[in-house]
Amino acid sequence: MDTKTGKGSLLKEIEKDEVWGDVFRMVAQQVEKAFIIGNINEKYFETLLEPERVLRVSIPVVMDNGEIKCFAGYRVQHSTARGPAKGGIRYHPNVTLDEVSALAAWMSFKNALVNIPFGGGKGGIKVNPSDLSEGELIRLTRRYTSGILPLIGPYKDVPAPDVNTNQLIMDVIMDTYSMFQGFTVPSVVTGKSVSLGGSVGRREATGKGVFFVTKEYLELKNKKIENLKIGIQGFGNVGSVAALSFYSAGAKVCAITDVSGGIYNEKGLDINKILNEIKNKKFLKNIKGEGDFIENKELFELPVDVLIPAAIERQITEENADKIKAFLIVEGANGPVTPEAEKILLDKNIVIIPDILANAGGVIVSYFEWVQDLQFYFWKEEEIFEKLEEILKNALHEVIKTSENFKTDLRTSALIIGISRIIDAIEKRGIFP
Ligand SMILES: NC(=O)c1ccc[n+]([C@@H]2O[C@H](COP(=O)([O-])OP(=O)(O)OC[C@H]3O[C@@H](n4cnc5c(N)ncnc54)[C@H](O)[C@@H]3O)[C@@H](O)[C@H]2O)c1
Repeated sequence: MDTKTGKGSLLKEIEKDEVWGDVFRMVAQQVEKAFIIGNINEKYFETLLEPERVLRVSIPVVMDNGEIKCFAGYRVQHSTARGPAKGGIRYHPNVTLDEVSALAAWMSFKNALVNIPFGGGKGGIKVNPSDLSEGELIRLTRRYTSGILPLIGPYKDVPAPDVNTNQLIMDVIMDTYSMFQGFTVPSVVTGKSVSLGGSVGRREATGKGVFFVTKEYLELKNKKIENLKIGIQGFGNVGSVAALSFYSAGAKVCAITDVSGGIYNEKGLDINKILNEIKNKKFLKNIKGEGDFIENKELFELPVDVLIPAAIERQITEENADKIKAFLIVEGANGPVTPEAEKILLDKNIVIIPDILANAGGVIVSYFEWVQDLQFYFWKEEEIFEKLEEILKNALHEVIKTSENFKTDLRTSALIIGISRIIDAIEKRGIFP
């Protein structure tokens, strides 16, 4: 592989357009490795690296002071070969077509890996939501929803929360879509309020899933969770629920960070107390007395056993990979480890449980929510978490077995499984026309 262009023997042939920035190139390199190591039929390679549909919309918003600001929004459907596109919507100043396309592709592979009947999609708006009032945020969301209306629908494309979006945003998307249909359509979006057809357990699903996968992996390696020190980057939906799950299971969560920095205490942090405090204090840097303040970059150098990046992509890079002391990295976020960093980590025998497995809990419970909405029949929380744990455990066992068969790392193995299932669907359906 050419390290400058990131192109190996398959990628060499492909020259791409604006979809291919740093993040999509990560996808391309990972997919190429899976094709080569998994002996996957090369004739499908290019098709899997071309999103099926890309929509860019303008989102003019009347601000509270009467000014008009215009934001850029995207919705990308990477593949619908196995079912409706499914994937979250992100509000972040760094959202680009490159990033949204990469996240959409990872969703296709993730949904196929855990074998739920969805394709992959993703959306985003280039905005810093903390600069907006609640009213502005709701108007932004309604206008974005009307812009992507031609793409979304219960059998077409079903959005969900991602970075900086939550139940409120999903409720607004559901209402806006329903207003255009003339009747209430809960199944158009997942991650809604439970009272509007959301699923119990959806809010916790991704963080709990990270915990279930890690616990099972450690049990297979005969390691006790109570003896381990954990470090987590990101204290939002995924990171905070994962932190609480590990803490509740008796592990020492020694370090947590968010965009403002974080807290380190080698004896372990009281996660319940910190969760209570952050409601008022908003950022971890404002919480005093629980441990030492750390900058985000310090997290990756700490003496912890398990490191869980659960913030945004491209956080573990060739600059910091060498300093990592953990023996296990569990990717709560999508794409937190660059391919260059991954090479360094694998050479040091550090195991990486990849994003498309580790954070699949969110989309699995989103699938349960969609099924419940389509049937207007709702399940209990125990049922949700029991089914979630079973799907994730089975997927982990399959990924480990495949990695042994192909003598490869867990990411490549997970991609071999996911990609093979998508290709199977494409082959059985045939290429239209
Ligand atoms: N929410 C889900 O159900 C879900 C499902 C699967 C994957 N993911 C992935 O998990 C990751 C986190 O998503 P979330 O829903 O928890 O988002 P969130 O907005 O709830 O939380 C993000 C957290 O990351 C922190 N953060 C942001 N930029 C950072 C930076 N540069 N350095 C350190 N911390 C930073 C924020 O302060 C916040 O604590 C994303 O990669 C997302 O794609 C989320």
